[in-house]
Amino acid sequence: MALHIVNHPMVQHKLTLMRKKETSTHDFRALLREIGMLMGYEVTRDFPLRDIEIETPMQKTVAKQIASRKVVVVPILRAGLGMVEGLLELIPSARVGHIGMYRNETTHEPVFYYYRMPAGKDRTVILTDPMLATGGSACDAIRRLKADGYTQIRMMCLVAAPEGVKRLQSEHPEVEIFTAALDNGLDENCYILPGLGDAGDRIFGTKF
Ligand code: PRP
Ligand code: URA
Repeated sequence: MALHIVNHPMVQHKLTLMRKKETSTHDFRALLREIGMLMGYEVTRDFPLRDIEIETPMQKTVAKQIASRKVVVVPILRAGLGMVEGLLELIPSARVGHIGMYRNETTHEPVFYYYRMPAGKDRTVILTDPMLATGGSACDAIRRLKADGYTQIRMMCLVAAPEGVKRLQSEHPEVEIFTAALDNGLDENCYILPGLGDAGDRIFGTKF
């Protein structure tokens, strides 16, 4: 399925600031929130509209509104949390689910620890995680969402490696992927190059 690279100048500029190693935790978090909202425009671009009758202070008219598209934003903990606030500013009616997983440092396989979703399997899921590296975490999260009954799933990340995109497209071909950058590849520890380092540590200031 489609890979969308969000190459809007504002997104690209903010991503460059995030990549810089000297960017503070405070600025990193703020930039990720802003990009979350900006990328939300692209992720929701094809949401259907319907005509409704309204009355302006001047006259009656027909205007557009989103045609009952219900959304659930689902961050993969921890780093996915950094994109949630921005998305909720754009889609205030969205519900929020959570999927907890971290990568085993040796095997680089995801270790699952938490799953909590709101009611309503008919919602469009926007799964957020800034880093799509091997693709293991995203693929496992999507597998669990599908097993739970969700059929409309979109993946929103910030930086993707070709390896992760390939795996996601092979295991879940119907899931559209939105990313701000497709980087060069992975290092021996499965970190993205040039990437931006460990997103969770940079958001939450947990690197000692
Ligand atoms: C990071 C990142 C993704 C995952 C990507 O999480 O936020 O969830 O790694 O790697 P993958 O595509 O190879 O699975 P991490 O395991 O560092 O957990 P954290 O967000 O709690 O720091
Ligand atoms: N997780 C991160 O936070 N960064 C990477 O580069 C790869 C996985």
